[in-house]
Amino acid sequence: MIKENLTDNKIAIIGGTGKEGKGLAIGWLNAGFEVIIGSRMLEKANSAVHEIQLILDKELKLSGMVNDDAARKADIIVITVPYSVHRDTLVMLKPLVAGKLVIDVTVPIMPPKVTVPNLPPEGSAGLEARAVLGEEVEVVTAFQNISYEKLMRNEVTDCDVLVCGSSKNARNIGIQLVEAMGFTAWDAGPLENSVVAEALTSVLIGINIRHGVTSAGIKITGVKQ
Ligand SMILES: NC(=O)c1ccc[n+]([C@@H]2O[C@H](COP(=O)([O-])OP(=O)(O)OC[C@H]3O[C@@H](n4cnc5c(N)ncnc54)[C@H](OP(=O)(O)O)[C@@H]3O)[C@@H](O)[C@H]2O)c1
Repeated sequence: MIKENLTDNKIAIIGGTGKEGKGLAIGWLNAGFEVIIGSRMLEKANSAVHEIQLILDKELKLSGMVNDDAARKADIIVITVPYSVHRDTLVMLKPLVAGKLVIDVTVPIMPPKVTVPNLPPEGSAGLEARAVLGEEVEVVTAFQNISYEKLMRNEVTDCDVLVCGSSKNARNIGIQLVEAMGFTAWDAGPLENSVVAEALTSVLIGINIRHGVTSAGIKITGVKQ
C-alpha cells in the first residue's frame, strides 16, 4: 500500500547504478524521498551511493542494496535496466512487489539499432510489465523521454514527462512523483498508450544524432495549466 504522504514511501531503483537510475535518485533525494539504489552487486550499489553523496554533498536518506533486498524494502519500485534484461528483471521482481507500485522507465530498444523501437509482443514495455507482474501490481510508465543528462543537470523546465498507468490512481501517484522533481507531468492515459512515449525515445535519439546533441525532449503545447 502506498502511504498517503508520498515522501513517507521508500523508493527502490532497480539497476539504480546506471545513468538513468542515478539521475532519478538525485531528483527524488532532492525532493526529500528515501532512496535505495539496487544492483546485482552490493559493492556496486554502495559505490553508486558514494558517488551520489559526493554530488549532492548533504545529508541524504540513501542506501545501497542488492536488487531483491531493495525491492523487498521499498514501497515504490523503479525499473531502470537495459531492455535486453527487462523481462528477466520483471520475473525476479514478481514475488516481491505485490501490492506495491512499479514505475517502469525501460525503453524497448536493442543497441546498436537505437533509432527504431523494438517492441515486445505485448505491445510495449509497460504492457509487458503488467503482463508479467499481474493484476495485483499497479504499473506506471514515465521518464522514457528524459535523458540522464537532463536529470543530472536538473533541467526540469525544457522537457515534459508523459505518465501512463494501469489505473487513474496509479497515474496520479506517478504524476506526483514526476512533479516532485520539478518536471511537468501529463496524464497520458492507460498503459496501452505507453508505446507512444517508449517509441518516441527512438525518435529523440535519432534527433540527437542528426543534430549533434544529447538531450532532445518534448513539450506539450496548447494547454493552459
Ligand atoms: N540513459 C538515459 O538517458 C535514459 C533515458 C530514458 C530512459 N532510459 C532507459 O532506462 C533504462 C536504463 O538506462 P541506463 O542508460 O541507465 O542503462 P545502463 O546504465 O546501461 O544500465 C543500468 C543498469 O542496469 C543493470 N544491468 C545491466 N545489465 C544487466 C543484466 N544483464 N542483468 C541485470 N541488470 C543489468 C546495471 O546495474 P548493476 O550492474 O548494478 O546490476 C546497470 O547499471 C534503459 O531501459 C533505458 O532505455 C535511459
